[in-house]
Amino acid sequence: MTLFNMNTFRKIHYMFLVSSLVFFIAASQNIPNPRYAQASALVNNKLYFFGGKLETNTVTNEVWYLDVESLSNATIHTWHQSPSMPVGYYYGTSCVSVTDNSTILLIGGISYTPNTPNLDFDAKVYIFNPNKPQWKSLKFINGSNNFVMRNNMQAVMNKYGQIFIYGGLNFTNNNSSNTVYNDMNLLLATDYNDILWSTPSVTYAPPTPFIQYTATLLSNGLIVYIGGIQETQAISATLMTTLKLFDTYYNSWSDQTISGDPIESRAGHSAVLDIKYSSAQNEIIIVYGGYSTKTNATSYNTVTPDVAVLNTTTWTWSTPYIFQAHAPPLLALHSAVLYENYMIIAFGLNVAQSTGLTPDTNLLSNDIYILDIQNYAWVIVIPANQSSEYNILQFAIGIGVGVAILIIFLSFSGYMCYSKYFNYQEVHYEYLVFQYSIHYES
Ligand SMILES: *[C@@H]1O[C@H](CO)[C@@H](O)[C@H](O)[C@H]1NC(C)=O
Ligand SMILES: *[C@@H]1O[C@H](CO)[C@@H](O)[C@H](O)[C@H]1NC(C)=O
Ligand SMILES: *[C@@H]1O[C@H](CO)[C@@H](O)[C@H](O)[C@H]1NC(C)=O
Ligand SMILES: *[C@@H]1O[C@H](CO)[C@@H](O)[C@H](O)[C@H]1NC(C)=O
Ligand SMILES: *[C@@H]1O[C@H](CO)[C@@H](O)[C@H](O)[C@H]1NC(C)=O
Ligand SMILES: *[C@@H]1O[C@H](CO)[C@@H](O)[C@H](O)[C@H]1NC(C)=O
Ligand SMILES: *[C@@H]1O[C@H](CO)[C@@H](O)[C@H](O)[C@H]1NC(C)=O
Ligand SMILES: *[C@@H]1O[C@H](CO)[C@@H](O)[C@H](O)[C@H]1NC(C)=O
Repeated sequence: MTLFNMNTFRKIHYMFLVSSLVFFIAASQNIPNPRYAQASALVNNKLYFFGGKLETNTVTNEVWYLDVESLSNATIHTWHQSPSMPVGYYYGTSCVSVTDNSTILLIGGISYTPNTPNLDFDAKVYIFNPNKPQWKSLKFINGSNNFVMRNNMQAVMNKYGQIFIYGGLNFTNNNSSNTVYNDMNLLLATDYNDILWSTPSVTYAPPTPFIQYTATLLSNGLIVYIGGIQETQAISATLMTTLKLFDTYYNSWSDQTISGDPIESRAGHSAVLDIKYSSAQNEIIIVYGGYSTKTNATSYNTVTPDVAVLNTTTWTWSTPYIFQAHAPPLLALHSAVLYENYMIIAFGLNVAQSTGLTPDTNLLSNDIYILDIQNYAWVIVIPANQSSEYNILQFAIGIGVGVAILIIFLSFSGYMCYSKYFNYQEVHYEYLVFQYSIHYES
């Protein structure tokens, strides 16, 4: 007497087939290509990415977002696309309006007519309303003439809606050498139809301009400029041990000496402000990644440590101990934001394998990495570009377990000979469905 008849086998097999397919459909999604020098902004739990340069060497106008609430330990992230920018865009800077906490301004940057190598000088500011969603281009910034395609700088917006942008590079064509600016630009976006632009007179401006820095606004109105690369690379080292501070109330610069752990000079890194201590005027800045700014470097070099913490009360650097499992390769020209206790890092250039000073498009990332800043641990995130491998693994386990269970059932029931053939047919069929899914996905 048999405990299991053929109907039971069919049911079990059908179950595996259906569950595998459901898994597949749930996991199948569009995934952005690797890129660097994109802009990013976090609005209403959605982390937006704008433009960037792709592996194909084209500057894209794509807009992607991740629902950060959906990010958790060991899940595949789901990507969504928003209406593309009017231009291909990279090396710009973004900020989120304090008036509505949702309008995103993309300022400066190098712009191209989408899908062409032709520069597009049409607008100086692109404004994205994620709620509609809709784009608007601002052709004029009143008062500015030399702000055309200003790039490699970072904007901060204060609680009064004033936007401060230090320096940056100019760009008008491929063949000229760049000028590194030393000005402080103050933009006031009144109603997003018009932007008032000025260059207030400032005191104690840094004698040597620097770019590819990070700018972080503290609650006391000081902007902390960390790292960056100077015209004369030889003095970039001082940009980590003597930070440049800009007081937004007095329009004045000062130098702040930083003690503590040695933190190698870097540019193209990222910084986030942890404000959970802000009531006690005790804010920390967490710095990730970047490339080394050694004098006369002929390629992008790695920096240590990859993660550094600046205590802005004591003005000291510290290096948290972080277990390296699930850590990213050292990235530069990536994006980073803080969401609750998670520093989310996306895209960028893998510095360790770089061979020259032009970002190597074979070394770009489209992975997401998450640093838990409460426990200083990298959270397990399944890379977007490996989600199909992950499916294969799941699927193989599904088949493997299915086959094993079947074999146990079959040995028990004594239907070995006929059923082996049946089993093979079923697995083969599933495999074909699986192959089809892969093709459908790509
Ligand atoms: C924007 O966010 C800040 C900080 O969370 C909050 O204090 C402010 O009330 C918000 N403003 C609007 C218009 O929602
Ligand atoms: C500028 O350089 C890019 C990349 O090297 C190239 O694709 C583009 O054709 C150049 N544009 C002009 C106007 O020379
Ligand atoms: C800004 O410039 C534009 C174009 O020149 C002009 O139409 C507008 O009135 C100006 N706005 C202000 C506030 O000056
Ligand atoms: C930057 O500005 C300077 C001075 O106006 C000019 O000579 C140079 O050609 C510009 N460079 C680029 C890349 O646009
Ligand atoms: C830049 O140089 C390239 C080759 O040297 C030339 O073909 C191109 O016309 C130049 N572009 C500009 C804008 O001068
Ligand atoms: C960097 O290069 C310049 C010019 O070639 C040279 O004068 C200088 O000594 C170099 N500096 C270092 C630290 O190697
Ligand atoms: C910053 O340093 C002060 C003084 O040592 C300390 O009390 C505070 O906890 C530190 N802040 C953080 C966030 O670690
Ligand atoms: C993520 O999951 C792993 C394995 O379950 C666990 O060891 C780790 O502590 C988790 N990390 C976080 C930040 O929850």
